[in-house]
Amino acid sequence: MIIIVAAMTRNHVIGKDNRIPWHIDEETRHYRNLVEGKTLLMGRATFDLMKHPYAHGHDIVVTHSKINHKAADVCGSVDEALKKAKEYGPDVFVIGGQSIYEQTIGIADMILLSYIKKDYEGNKFFPEFSKAEWREASVEEFTDFTYAVYIRKKKLGSQHTVSDIPRR
Ligand SMILES: NC(=O)c1ccc[n+]([C@@H]2O[C@H](COP(=O)([O-])OP(=O)(O)OC[C@H]3O[C@@H](n4cnc5c(N)ncnc54)[C@H](OP(=O)(O)O)[C@@H]3O)[C@@H](O)[C@H]2O)c1
Repeated sequence: MIIIVAAMTRNHVIGKDNRIPWHIDEETRHYRNLVEGKTLLMGRATFDLMKHPYAHGHDIVVTHSKINHKAADVCGSVDEALKKAKEYGPDVFVIGGQSIYEQTIGIADMILLSYIKKDYEGNKFFPEFSKAEWREASVEEFTDFTYAVYIRKKKLGSQHTVSDIPRR
């Protein structure tokens, strides 16, 4: 399964000047619980921002550069990164940023989305997605954010169900 994980404002802001414009401890803990130990796929800019890698399974970074990194697999395209992820298991968690969300939202099976309640300005955005294609499978309220899980509709009843939603 391709699982997108993101936090955004109601206006779809996810980042500003190469950082996340809010600091919400509860959301950070929530995010960490979701992705820790998993196979993570991200763009090079997001990888550069991860100052304290979690104790997790695998980082896969997409970049046009021919670099090597001892803490991550480096891939030249999203397709290559998805193939690499399959070597580690059936699920890959796509953790941003904007360019990688844009390239994977059309093929993702699930979106784990935190809606930040306060408004923030930014210059990076989560793509629009049609509610006609996605079913809101669950919603959970936290103090400063609302956590929603979306499952791609065409997969319902076939491959994925609510019981597939990753547990924190
Ligand atoms: N709120 C959230 O949930 C969240 C999560 C993650 C990130 N963010 C925010 O999002 C922003 C970063 O997003 P971004 O779009 O600027 O950067 P990004 O998606 O993290 O990384 C972009 C880089 O990925 C590489 N890349 C992308 N597509 C590629 C392809 N098809 N083939 C090869 N390489 C490819 C390129 O690296 P090279 O330049 O090295 O070639 C590109 O410059 C930051 O502000 C960050 O804080 C927010």
